[in-house]
Amino acid sequence: MDLAVIGVGHVGLVTAACLADLGHRVVGLDDDAAKIETLLAGGVPFHEPDLPQLLEKVTASGALRFSTELADAIADAEVVFVCVGTPPLPGGGPDLRFVERVAVEVASSVDHELVLVEKSTVPANTGQRLTQVIRREQEARGTDLTNVHVASNPEFLREGVAVHDTLNPDRIVYGTSSDFARDALRRVYAPLVERTGAPVVETDVNTAELIKHASNAFLATRISFINAVANVCDLVGADVEVVAQGMGMDARIGPAFLSAGLGYGGSCFPKDVDAFLHLARNVGYDFRLLEEVGRINAGQRDVVLRKLRDELWHLSGKTITILGAAFKPGTDDLRESPGLHLVRTLMDEGATVRVYDPVAIPGVQAQLPDVATFTDPIEAVTGAHAAVVATDWPEIVKLDLAEVVAALDYPILVDGRNCLDAAAAAAAGLRYHGIGRGHLRT
Ligand code: UGA
Repeated sequence: MDLAVIGVGHVGLVTAACLADLGHRVVGLDDDAAKIETLLAGGVPFHEPDLPQLLEKVTASGALRFSTELADAIADAEVVFVCVGTPPLPGGGPDLRFVERVAVEVASSVDHELVLVEKSTVPANTGQRLTQVIRREQEARGTDLTNVHVASNPEFLREGVAVHDTLNPDRIVYGTSSDFARDALRRVYAPLVERTGAPVVETDVNTAELIKHASNAFLATRISFINAVANVCDLVGADVEVVAQGMGMDARIGPAFLSAGLGYGGSCFPKDVDAFLHLARNVGYDFRLLEEVGRINAGQRDVVLRKLRDELWHLSGKTITILGAAFKPGTDDLRESPGLHLVRTLMDEGATVRVYDPVAIPGVQAQLPDVATFTDPIEAVTGAHAAVVATDWPEIVKLDLAEVVAALDYPILVDGRNCLDAAAAAAAGLRYHGIGRGHLRT
């Protein structure tokens, strides 16, 4: 099929490359000319494992090409995926201006029947809004009012394993309101269903939108739940790691997303929890559970600060190394990074902060030019009064802890991701603090 992907950020670029890999002819469009130039030169604008190789393959075969002209990108497209950004607004809801603009532009230049698919995470009822915007634009132009079909096809990919997730989905969800759109999306995903046997949920547009909201909010709730349990574990002298293990063995609970720590970050969970809360409020439901999920998450950074203060008393004048700046391993994404929040708070308290990360240092330098940055973890901890693990990068998990002890001025380490072996840390001479590992102090 001929497909177009509008917006080649993280979601759009991965989607475009994977759809091309499935055998479709795809045009990736972005109005950021610099981004398109990077892609045309064979570069990838962000760190995502497996994506450079896949892009090389699908651009070399001609299955994927790039454009900056909307009319060119959608000229032959049967399906147009909208993957533009939906950044958060100050009030908590997402800014849907870019999504609206794409709908208007498509409505004003389309000359054949096509499906316009929301893939960016948008609030429920956005599909209805898009249909309204498109009809209004077509009415104003006196063009065919029936040739744009709006659909919702949420993505569930995780940064860092995005290509794997897209090509091996747990499920494929799409919501449509016409046979034309449902048939088109069936054909888009037929090769993936054949390849993987992934189950398909075919539903209406509102329900598809809600599946995405509810999935991300539920995963965020699991993380905040286990973090709240971790805080109790600290107080009663229990080990949250074993608690999570014991819980996860119950088939009804399962082991995923029960890692306690500094809390969730990234461009999705914090924004999506707020957006769902905001949406519920707008339609008259007070979703207080989600409010608490966000509050617990923000509080996890204070848990780490408290542990540092317990050890160092005043943080002003102390040198503290943050190991890991990316919001999670496998990405250079710093959006809503709990580690970076910590850096800012420590700086506000007058501490000297050093930051180590294997891939995200250029972004840190751009945001915080006064912070000392390192791509070698041992150099980063040398002479520091304490270290905090903020991202569970493999490079950090496999650190030689004896070397860390030798390099630090005081052998204090707060493991904000519970990713180090606590017994090995103690044996190496570290004063080790995990999150919810209160048993170590009893
Ligand atoms: C998340 C969802 O997992 C995807 O399914 C979804 O498509 C995506 O948002 C989106 O809406 O676009 P992502 O933000 O890439 O994907 O990252 P996750 O791997 O889900 O991790 C999110 C955060 O939760 C990270 O900061 C991670 O460190 C934290 N986390 C995760 C925990 O603190 N504990 C856990 O047990 C799991």
